[in-house]
Amino acid sequence: RTVFVLNGPNLNLLGKRQPEIYGHETLADVEADCRATAAGLGFDIRFHQSNREYEIIDWVHEAREVGAAIVINPAAFTHTSVAILDALKTFEGPIIEIHISNVHAREAFRHHSYVSAVASGVIAGFGTQGYTLALQRVAKLLQAG
Ligand code: DQA
Repeated sequence: RTVFVLNGPNLNLLGKRQPEIYGHETLADVEADCRATAAGLGFDIRFHQSNREYEIIDWVHEAREVGAAIVINPAAFTHTSVAILDALKTFEGPIIEIHISNVHAREAFRHHSYVSAVASGVIAGFGTQGYTLALQRVAKLLQAG
């Protein structure tokens, strides 16, 4: 089964970008962790990052065709994007929203997420470990049918 792991803007700079908030692991490290976890769970992973909203929308559309589940860190688009919300509304499988930082302990504008309305669950503040926890949750949800 194919699980899409989608990452929004500025996450290409993970490890260099505000490490006091997001830690020292790079997105390549996160991808490696996801691939290792996915292999154990029998998932095929499509791991993507973009700074462009339309690319994330296009990957959600691709997931409609071939994806069993979506794990998404929409980054700043979390707080702004009705377009990503609408795209996710077309997806029928489980959607897990993940944030590396605890967005609720940060600025007020990070407290609202457009994506949470369509997420099966939300992970925030577990650092990059949140990604592998999300994949484990996906396994459970897919198993439950
Ligand atoms: C983030 C939190 C967002 O508020 C922020 O814009 C990001 C990353 C996180 O993973 O903690 O870019 O999604």
